[in-house]
Order: sequence, then C-alpha cells, then structure tokens
Amino acid sequence: MVSVAIMGHGVVGSGVSEILLTHKQKLFASVGEELYIKHILDLRDFPEHPLADRFTKDFNDIINDIDVDIVVEVMGGLNPAYDFVKQCLLKGKSVVTSNKELVAAKGAELLQIAKDNNTNFLFEASVGGGIPIIRPINQCLVANNVSEIAGILNGTTNFILTKMINEGMDFDEALKLAQDLGYAERNPEADVEGHDACRKICILASLAYGKHIYPDAVHTQGITKITLDDVKYASIWGGVIKLIGKVKQLPDKKVDIVVAPMFIPNKSQLANIDDVFNGIMVRGDCTDDVVFYGKGAGKLPTASAVVADIIDCVKHLKNRKYLFWADSDNSSVIDYKESVTAMYLRTVSDDTASAYNKAKELFNDIHVLECDTAKEGELAFVCEPMAYGTILDNIDALNNSGIKVESAIRIGDL
Ligand code: HSE
Repeated sequence: MVSVAIMGHGVVGSGVSEILLTHKQKLFASVGEELYIKHILDLRDFPEHPLADRFTKDFNDIINDIDVDIVVEVMGGLNPAYDFVKQCLLKGKSVVTSNKELVAAKGAELLQIAKDNNTNFLFEASVGGGIPIIRPINQCLVANNVSEIAGILNGTTNFILTKMINEGMDFDEALKLAQDLGYAERNPEADVEGHDACRKICILASLAYGKHIYPDAVHTQGITKITLDDVKYASIWGGVIKLIGKVKQLPDKKVDIVVAPMFIPNKSQLANIDDVFNGIMVRGDCTDDVVFYGKGAGKLPTASAVVADIIDCVKHLKNRKYLFWADSDNSSVIDYKESVTAMYLRTVSDDTASAYNKAKELFNDIHVLECDTAKEGELAFVCEPMAYGTILDNIDALNNSGIKVESAIRIGDL
C-alpha cells in the first residue's frame, strides 16, 4: 500500500480523490499496489465527504507522517504551496502538482531539491490539463531537437475568442459568459492578460531546452484589446485570432518566446481548436509537427493528469524519474524587439490614400485587407516579417503623422 496526501480540496483536489476512489481497481491493476488517501489538507470542513475523517487543517500531519510517500499539491498559488512542496521534497517525499504558477516560478529550484533528495517532482497537469504534454516532451519526443512549440494554452481566452469569432459577441459579453460558466479564474486578469498562458509556455520551454525560462522574461500580451473589427479582418485575411504561447529555438540556441494574440491561417491545425479546448504543436526535427489536443482545464481532465503522475511516482519510489532542467538567468531569451514577425495593423486617419503611402514608405511592402464595410478613414494591412522593434517604431511614426494605429496583431507563422 502506498499512502498519499492531497493538499487542497478544490476543483482539482476533489477530482483527484474522486478518481482514486472510483478507479481503485483499475489503478491497482496498473501498479500492483493500493493507493491509500491518508490525509486531505484543506482549511474548510467537509463533514459529508466519504473521507471526512482524513481531512486535516494542519500541514504538520502530512510532513511528519513517515508513511506518506506521495504528496499532491493542488492548492494553487505560490504561497503556501511553495513552502509546503519544498518541505516535502526535502523530506524525500514525492510531490505531484497541477500548479503552473509554482512550476513556472520555482521549477528549477524544486527540481534540483527533488534530484538532491532522490525523489520525484512531477507536474503533468500544470500545462494542458488532461492533455499529455510534459511526459511526451520529456520521454516520447526526447530523440528530437525541438525547434518550436506553439499552442493555445488557455481555455478561457480560447472560449472568449471563439464566441467573438463564431457568434459576434464583443469581448466584454464573451468574458461575462466565460465567468458565468465558471471557466474564467476568480481574477480573470491571469487569463485575459496572458499570464496563465505565459506560465505554461515557460514550463514547456524550460523542459524542451533544459534551462528555466522565467515568466518575467517573456513578452506577454492578452486579448483585452481585440475587437470585432479585428476578428473581421482576420477572416478577410483567411484566418482567425488565437492567443498563442510560442517558443522557437534560433540557430545560435537562443530562444524567441512570446505570448500574444495572433492571426492564424485557417489551414493551421491550431485554427480549428475552439471553445475551452487547448492545442499544442511541438515541432521536432525527427517527427516534424506533432499536435496535442484536448481539455486544458476542468475537474476530471486535470485530475486525470495528476493521478497519472501519482502512478508514475509509485513506479519510481526507489529510482526517481528523470525530469529536470537547470536554473538560468534568462540570458538565452532574445529581446522581444529582436523577434521577427509579420503584423496586421488597422489604422484610422482623415485620408486613407496618404495613410497607405505613409504605411508603404515605412513598411516597404504592405498587403491591404479590403473590406466592404470598412469604417470611414480605416486602412487595414499586413506587413512583411520584420523585427518587432522596427514595427513599434513604425507604429509611433504613423501615430505621429496623424494616422492612428488602433490595432496591431502578429501574424502567426503556424
Ligand atoms: N484558467 C485556465 C484556463 C485553467 O482557462 O485554461 C487551466 O489552467
């Protein structure tokens, strides 16, 4: 029998205990051991729960219990999760977490502690919910040099954009619906400003390239400024707008990493990933593109990934599972202004002919997006790929010439 403690009985935590109870026989068959939930840590009371007698409010009941081999952290947030997880690893207990904030901020340190203490720190559920992605990158695709990872990593924003694209809702309406349906986080800022997707692409990039990439090194834009006009122009261009987390390894081994809304061509596999679903493309030099698709959030999908990690811990209680990246100072990340991208811009001015000439002078070659229902003075176009810093300078130059840039969205080369 292997004793497990679960820290947190929220959406994911309750899903983990549910799967461990309802899938007991199936899980026993896969490891040949019974998984016994010995403690559930939560500050709230759950008197009606079938395991009511196992609930505790005191972390000491877990850390001091030598029978507990595996601790599941599903509390979310950085504190006290970081302190609790660190203490567990230092005591040689295996830790499984779904906490992307924790892994993105402290992954290198916690992986090092796990290594030093010959124990496991696993976090399959931290990216893509129920979609297998950490294990595939760490194991199945390990023979590849990964040149690029790009994904729709946040279900809430994908839901909002899908509603804008398919039903013509504006951003505020679609956000309200996402909140009413319980998709958006308590504070929607982490979703809509791109921070959640940023943490997830940092975890994938750290894993793929072996060095921790911290969220503060990543240029991150959310979707709050996307309008229905932009959705319309994306369609005229031949695509849709998606919030993409993307990392690319350059020939000098530096990484170009960004989170931003992008125009994605309809032919891209990522263009057809709708609603709360996530999709992640991993480009390997042996495999070429591999795409992972599924439910990136939710109780049972996320708990399913947590339970898979618990099983992996059971199988690696003596010989730790190899999962590691080193700490870094973010020096492998290029300045976001050096990142090369094509761009869609929507401008408004008194004179579209002059605006066109000025845009052509600044950007050299532009492709105008013709729209029958364009507002008076509106000019929308796509420029050729160039450094993002040059694009920003050109946007300043347009604004300073009385040509107001209302929107600027990257073209995703996906
Ligand atoms: N708020 C996140 C999302 C939850 O919408 O994708 C899963 O990480």
